[in-house]
Amino acid sequence: MKIRQKEVEDLIFKSYLEEVMKKKKFLKMNRYIQHGNTSCLLHSIAVSYYSYRLAKFLRLNIHEKELIRGALLHDYFLYDWHAKYKPTRDVGLHGRIHPKIALFNARKDYDINELEADIIARHMFPLTFTPPKYKESVIVCLVDKVLSTYEVFSKNAYAKITDRVVENKKERRIISRRLNWY
Ligand SMILES: [Fe+2]
Ligand SMILES: [Fe+2]
Repeated sequence: MKIRQKEVEDLIFKSYLEEVMKKKKFLKMNRYIQHGNTSCLLHSIAVSYYSYRLAKFLRLNIHEKELIRGALLHDYFLYDWHAKYKPTRDVGLHGRIHPKIALFNARKDYDINELEADIIARHMFPLTFTPPKYKESVIVCLVDKVLSTYEVFSKNAYAKITDRVVENKKERRIISRRLNWY
């Protein structure tokens, strides 16, 4: 039986995703809404998956592990950014401040290298002024913007993505559960 290249790439993606998911704190992102009715967790998985897919489609020579991990953790800020009383209310605009918080949290929980740090810290460019330094960071920065817009207008974003990327039934249930707090 011939295994298609895309199936191999999906397996690679899953293996990095599962490694990151070993820290249960990562699943905490499911408590917070990112856009529309999409949780931060589902958003992060989608940004990572489609960044990886885009890089493969463009046949770019990328650091796969860093691209996938950096994208998975790019919004690892772990608070409800819609809430009136959020932890950052005295520090500044969520859009500008959350990449730094995500990087701080990611460094606490994972070994983050320079490329992964750049992906996380620069993903809000041009709202944050320093541009991404690596092609992997540019891809994540672009895909994040496209998917964020899609989530705002979609009622059921990524309905099928959990079937594709998550093996474990319990985690699939957590990720696909729709939160509706607003
Ligand atoms: Fe973000
Ligand atoms: Fe994002």
